[in-house]
Amino acid sequence: MTGALELPGLWSLSRATGLVLIVLLSVTLAIGMLATARRTPSWWPRFATAALHVNLALLSIGLLVAHIAVTVLDGFVDISLTGALLPFTADYEPVWTGLGTVAALLLVTAAVTAGARRYLPPALWRRTHYVTHLAWPVAVVHGVGVGTDSASPASAAVTLGCVGLVTFATVLRFSTSSDHGWARLSARAAAVAFPIVIGVWLGVVASGGTS
Ligand code: HEM
Repeated sequence: MTGALELPGLWSLSRATGLVLIVLLSVTLAIGMLATARRTPSWWPRFATAALHVNLALLSIGLLVAHIAVTVLDGFVDISLTGALLPFTADYEPVWTGLGTVAALLLVTAAVTAGARRYLPPALWRRTHYVTHLAWPVAVVHGVGVGTDSASPASAAVTLGCVGLVTFATVLRFSTSSDHGWARLSARAAAVAFPIVIGVWLGVVASGGTS
């Protein structure tokens, strides 16, 4: 083990912070897409949507730090701080853990560029903010792949709920938008394919297949 603590609650805390994190990220992403597509209710003020989006994103970054810290401290899995921060170098499940690190790095990039928004050309800022669309599926795949119990009814329900919410928001976001045709088409294709892949994968794991 990597100098880790053998406290019984840490493993549960690692999983719990991961699950709450994916919920927060999904809600943040969905709110961002619904606001961009002008699909929030007319009685709901726009400044409130923006404030909610920003505050949930900040909360997610805080929880991400907690998720990594708890996982590194936990003696059940063998992950050093270096293994947690450098993609695909962890001793425990390097591919699945590495995808978590990739998602984390993408999110931190989005957070930093959002913080520096006023200093960046608008087109560059928009492009860098799009990495959140990449970070989310990578994080979902990380959660399903690495979680020791990710196909348990509770974990699977959380994951599928998040996938359903983001799929719904993606379809609305790219249904009437002025984006290029290829962007609309690929977003819709991903919105259909991703839930199927995750649903089938969770089904296979739950029925005793690979994890
Ligand atoms: C945006 C970034 C991340 C998200 C959204 C995320 C989310 C999750 C989720 C949903 C789970 C599964 C909980 C379950 O169903 O059991 C999980 C577990 C885990 N995560 Fe992350 N994670 C992220 C980043 C990371 C990073 C950077 C690391 C590196 C230390 C990491 C290490 C782990 C480990 C080792 C587990 C498995 C715990 C276990 O079941 O034994 N995660 N994460």
